[in-house]
Amino acid sequence: MLTLLRLLEDGRFHSGQAIGDALCISRNAVWKQVQRLESELGIALNRVRGRGYQLASPLVLLNDAVLRDKGLSDIWPFHIYESLDSTSVEATRLVAKGVEPPFLVLSERQTSGRGRRGRIWQSPFGVNVYSSLVLRVQKGARQLEGLSLVVGLAVMRALRASGLNEAGLKWPNDILVGGKKIAGILLELTGDPADVCHVVVGVGVNVNMANAEGIEQPWTSMKLELQRMVDRNEFICVLNRQLHGYLSRHAELGFAAFQEEWESNHLWQGCEVMLASGTQRIEGMVLGIDRVGALRLSVSGVEQRFSGGEISLRLRDDRRA
Ligand code: BTN
Repeated sequence: MLTLLRLLEDGRFHSGQAIGDALCISRNAVWKQVQRLESELGIALNRVRGRGYQLASPLVLLNDAVLRDKGLSDIWPFHIYESLDSTSVEATRLVAKGVEPPFLVLSERQTSGRGRRGRIWQSPFGVNVYSSLVLRVQKGARQLEGLSLVVGLAVMRALRASGLNEAGLKWPNDILVGGKKIAGILLELTGDPADVCHVVVGVGVNVNMANAEGIEQPWTSMKLELQRMVDRNEFICVLNRQLHGYLSRHAELGFAAFQEEWESNHLWQGCEVMLASGTQRIEGMVLGIDRVGALRLSVSGVEQRFSGGEISLRLRDDRRA
């Protein structure tokens, strides 16, 4: 199917005969592949008698040669897949097979994309960025302090460098534009923290997604904000340059060096919020974060600190569940 998509990527009409010749298959087999593109990958096609098939909307596929040419392989090795359950799950499988970190896993789609707090991360084919970076944890727990917040800063900078000047952060590591989520981060540890251990840095960015069903929170995408298609290969390189820079400085300096930068980009600084952790609900005002990235809330005038992956935060006036 990928060969057929590469042929159609130019956005022009291709006759069934021409596609059949290029793929060395019959016209009937072409028709079947077109059906599969639509049913399995959700890709809409225009069919016009006498002209053939054309993509209904433009598509820019991940391209190994283009990514190399733009310098991604100089940052860290990468692996591209057409379809995965989850780039983070595949990253863990590669670690188990002995692939040496750091390395990056990219996929055109995920069939079981994982979000925070057990949520599903919508991962349609060919429109967004689904990426997992594996790093070796060498300095124990200190290396992990504030790591997901620093990744958030890197993603935010990549979005701003791509024209989304209003991108900002929401504790712990959501990236929002105009109050809507545009990117999410999920860190997962693999191995034995007392021995050899790796962290999988999963990043999902809504790049060219224009519609989606079943996302429980307000969302947006780079395309919706910029009103144009975004070149995913280019954005992946911008993102990974930022990640490399931020992660290197974090490894060297620790999280405290980023506390101020993070707070000055926190969209909910000073806001009244409601924090949910399991069945617990706590109302307070955001004071900021501490030197390890924990949230500082003023609760009835007393400062309290919160950290942990299962916590969610809402503006107090937002009545959604
Ligand atoms: C969130 O819920 O905000 C975190 C979303 C993280 C999604 C990314 S997409 C790439 C990587 N693979 C996954 O299965 N999840 C992360």
